[in-house]
Amino acid sequence: MIVGAQWGDEGKGKVVDLLAERADVVIRFQGGNNAGHTIVRDGEEFKFHLIPSGILYPGKTCAIGNGVVVDPGVLIGELEGLRRKRIDISGLRISANAHLIMPYHVILDTEGEAKLGKLEIGTTKRGIGPCYTDKAARLGIRVQDMLDPKILRKKIFAALEPKKQLLRPFERDPRLDLHAMTEEYQGYGHRLEPYIADTARICWDALDADRTVLFEGAQATLLDIDHGTYPFVTSSNPVAGSACVGAGVGPTDIDEVWGVCKAYATRVGAGPFPTELDDEVGTHLRDKGHEFGTTTGRERRCGWLDMVGLRYASRLNRLSALAITKLDVLAGLDPIRVAVRYRSSEGAVLDEFPYHQTVLHGASAEYEELPGFDEDVGACRTPDDLPKAARDYLAFIEDHTGVPIRMVGVGPGREQMVTFG
Ligand code: GDP
Ligand code: IMO
Ligand code: MG
Repeated sequence: MIVGAQWGDEGKGKVVDLLAERADVVIRFQGGNNAGHTIVRDGEEFKFHLIPSGILYPGKTCAIGNGVVVDPGVLIGELEGLRRKRIDISGLRISANAHLIMPYHVILDTEGEAKLGKLEIGTTKRGIGPCYTDKAARLGIRVQDMLDPKILRKKIFAALEPKKQLLRPFERDPRLDLHAMTEEYQGYGHRLEPYIADTARICWDALDADRTVLFEGAQATLLDIDHGTYPFVTSSNPVAGSACVGAGVGPTDIDEVWGVCKAYATRVGAGPFPTELDDEVGTHLRDKGHEFGTTTGRERRCGWLDMVGLRYASRLNRLSALAITKLDVLAGLDPIRVAVRYRSSEGAVLDEFPYHQTVLHGASAEYEELPGFDEDVGACRTPDDLPKAARDYLAFIEDHTGVPIRMVGVGPGREQMVTFG
């Protein structure tokens, strides 16, 4: 299983692409098209929002699990993009039980943010939160419903009823016309029907035959609705435990959990970020790391690596390994700083990630300094190729988390990876 260990965009897509070669099934288990997973192959960039990052292997079974929220228009757009590039998409499977993002979810997301004003979360405005809200309220519409127009229409009607007040300003919006919406989604259903399947059973069949299933997390630990920096979080559970629910397997099916973590930290959207930098180092990270959102194009906030957050993520996900990405971006920074603890606004030392929102909002990071390196590490492939200062930095991360590092990214290309043991 691959999960994000920070605030997202750690390079999960790249790691999944690399590991997918040896997997029989790749499955997404939560989130939706708020995700943006990038893969760079032979200089060509692919950005996936819903389709699992294993799709570039011809015929590989790539499943969208029941825990994912699917915007079918976006999914069809992604499929068309891949077809144009002559990528084989025959291995795609979509859970019949996954929930659908409807036009009113997108409107409610955008309106909700506007109403919050300065207090906005900075969502991707893709309708993720309102869709999960309807799922919990049992007013959701599922992939299977697209295949039965009568049920589809009834369910859309029932879902719209309690939202009438909120949607009053959009009364005449053609996107919300019951008839048109039913037809639109019925059309999506026709197009997606060949891919709709029982994705849990696909996982069981593979696992029972001793084959490998790779679980692709989206978003990340600190954006988890239960364990992240609530309310500045997404509306699903990106932590490892959630893969069982979102794909339909048992905890004992999982052998390994890898956390992906940048060699520094970034965050898109609002919320606490104790190591955030508002200076020339932050600019260096943003420019050199091309830190602009894959989904929304927004500038990502940048800062030093936060060991308090990473230790928390390591325990919460019970990580068996770490993949550190973007080590190349640190070249030219000396010293490199790493947050090892926080200090509360009242002066208390905080070694652990604070569970109380107010404490976290007031916390400032305290750092250790490590020597930097100037060398371009983009061509390094083995640990011995790396400069000593870079190796020491990685050893520091292992010491402070107790989690072994298995991969280190030294550039966006799929070959730009240092593998350990
Ligand atoms: P994800 O959401 O976790 O899959 O990550 P994103 O794709 O949103 O963001 C990661 C970005 O960093 C992408 O543009 C990747 O191509 C790029 N990337 C991944 N690994 C590395 C690396 O080791 N070095 C550099 N320079 N870029 C990387
Ligand atoms: P990947 O999978 C980074 C952030 C948004 C916002 C918050 C809530 O590419 O790592 P939402 O639209 O989910 O309701 O927004 O979560 N967010 C992400 N940040 N990477 C992502 O996905 C994200 N998905 C959501 O910026 O702060
Ligand atoms: Mg991303």
